Amino acid sequence: MLKKSLPFMLMVALLLGVGAGVTVFTQQAQVPQIPGITATDERPNGCVNCHKDSFKLSTIIGGWASAGASQEIVSLVKAAWPEATVSGKHPDVAAMVASQELPTFCLNCHSADSKMPLSRDLHLVHFTGGAENGFLTNFGGFCTNCHLINLDTTKPPAGTMTTKTGKE
Ligand code: HEC
Ligand code: HEC
Ligand code: HEC
Repeated sequence: MLKKSLPFMLMVALLLGVGAGVTVFTQQAQVPQIPGITATDERPNGCVNCHKDSFKLSTIIGGWASAGASQEIVSLVKAAWPEATVSGKHPDVAAMVASQELPTFCLNCHSADSKMPLSRDLHLVHFTGGAENGFLTNFGGFCTNCHLINLDTTKPPAGTMTTKTGKE
């Protein structure tokens, strides 16, 4: 009995081994699905494609202007903007946020060379908190949700990164 089944067992082991090899090979050949890079970009206008309905940026900013931002946001921006004074009460620009190009409009006050660069707080807001963060868990946490990378070598300068824009 043992003598007969041994070659069979070897055969099974061999097949399993080959199977595992094939699996590893297919996994390596799979291309990660990154919007705008290897997959269709379903959010070509950035912020406004996600911040809709009750989650509109004009609604969020309006809330910050009246009630103030949450303690969570305030402590993140304090880490991002150590040179600025932040109370949590945002200037009431909700009406303009609703009608202007975003995030271009925000950059009037939050430019890269200001004390409150928009990039820093947005990177923190969308990337910290692990599993608690809806941007990571529901939207894959892709940089290309907000940024465009020009991969078209017929349109120089290729390889450049820009920020997507759009209106509410
Ligand atoms: C792919 C979807 C997506 C895009 C694009 C996006 N966001 Fe967000 N944003 C989210 C999610 C989800 C959260 C909530 C994160 C969390 O769970 O803390 C968030 C949180 C925020 C918050 C904090 C809101 C609050 O009350 O806590 C601000 C402000 C914000 N985003 C601004 C922007 C701006 C400005 C842009 C464009 C430059 C942008 N977002 C692009 C999905 C997105
Ligand atoms: C008119 C200038 C101005 C514009 C336009 C503006 N901000 Fe602000 N923002 C400020 C000031 C000033 C503060 C600091 C307020 C404080 O003391 O809390 C601030 C604070 C913030 C904070 C920290 C939370 C808070 O309430 O302090 C975030 C996040 C922020 N802005 C995002 C944005 C985004 C996103 C836009 C565009 C949709 C935008 N801002 C447009 C001036 C502006
Ligand atoms: C929620 C939107 C959002 C996401 C997601 C995002 N960025 Fe940004 N990023 C911005 C905005 C807004 C700016 C400021 C644009 C400006 O000033 O013109 C910016 C600016 C930058 C800059 C310019 C330097 C600076 O800090 O101002 C770099 C580099 C950058 N991002 C890299 C990344 C990388 C890498 C990722 C992914 C790990 C990423 N960003 C994800 C919104 C985002």
